[in-house]
Amino acid sequence: MELLIPRPGIGQIKPYRSIQPAGEDRSWVDLSLTVNPLGPSPMALNAYRQNATQIHRYPDVRQEKLRRAIARRHGLDWNHIACTAGSDEMIHLVTQAFAGPGDEVLCHEYGYRGFLKAIRASGATPVVAAERDMMVDVEAMIDRANGKTKICFLANPNNPTGTYIPAEAVQRLRAGLPAHTLLVLDCAYAEFCRRTNYEDGTEIVESSDNVLMVRTFSKIHGLAGLRIGWGYGPAKVIDAVNQIRSPFNVGFAAQAAAIAALSDTEHERASLEHNDRWLPWLSKELSLIGLRVYPSACNFLLVRVPPDPSLGVQAVTEHLARRGILVKDVSDYGLTDCLRITVGREDENRALVDAFAEILS
Ligand SMILES: Cc1ncc(COP(=O)(O)O)c(C=O)c1O
Repeated sequence: MELLIPRPGIGQIKPYRSIQPAGEDRSWVDLSLTVNPLGPSPMALNAYRQNATQIHRYPDVRQEKLRRAIARRHGLDWNHIACTAGSDEMIHLVTQAFAGPGDEVLCHEYGYRGFLKAIRASGATPVVAAERDMMVDVEAMIDRANGKTKICFLANPNNPTGTYIPAEAVQRLRAGLPAHTLLVLDCAYAEFCRRTNYEDGTEIVESSDNVLMVRTFSKIHGLAGLRIGWGYGPAKVIDAVNQIRSPFNVGFAAQAAAIAALSDTEHERASLEHNDRWLPWLSKELSLIGLRVYPSACNFLLVRVPPDPSLGVQAVTEHLARRGILVKDVSDYGLTDCLRITVGREDENRALVDAFAEILS
């Protein structure tokens, strides 16, 4: 008889599918993960190194310096900020704090997969609202909410679709959800979304008492390997997260690096400039080759490959791999004929387009 049985829901979590080649080989052009092609902020790297001699110490439980630095940079109240080991941990903690068996948690069809994992781990039931042409459908989400809906997750902009909804639509979603539903706005790619009708969540957090904004140092600041995320929301949400988080969840040197990254406006400017130049370039070149490229407000593109099996996802990814290029197959999102491609350095972007041209022309 089986004695050790994980809670229901755990077995339904699909494991994260890594496509990274095993071993230490870093010679691949890796466009499969949505990281910063310019690397980390040099100021962050320096701060990290300077703190290397102190890593025998536990980090500040209150995360005070980091929270104050985030608050200063973004014009927020530091008392309403909590920091986590990547924004993924915030997603898990907030789900654990507000939902459990018998509750429902709403997310969107092609929404970031971390949501589903956190929901299943909490024992709550995921409810998935359909999207429309890779766009979040606010009305469909509101329709699926009910008395049991404890949380509604919205990634804005979203990974892997790259699409976003404007501030007015987020407000409409908040207004249409029950008051007892916490709206969690995952804005991991907020800095890249430079559309005038976009809002990163700060305003809606401040004008309501049931919205949490989640952010990360993994994307624009290039610190994915250090695992630093944060949330900004009402005291009752921040307090609940702090109550269940491990006291030392964000490492000492990671906190120092994040503080330095916040003042490295030059790295941030260069990263945005790079993305503003190469995202449209990649989009145009891949469209010219005949791929359907979805509009993206992020640092990656979702592209649809032709239905022809000899040119399908598998054939294309294998061909690119032979050229030393990794891209992300997103079939685990139900997007069986799509690939997610992150903007790389100039030479990497050009190599990618050349490799696609070889197989598709
Ligand atoms: C939309 C979205 N949210 C959250 C995360 C988690 O990022 P991290 O845990 O590195 O902060 C990612 C990572 O790719 C993401 O794409």
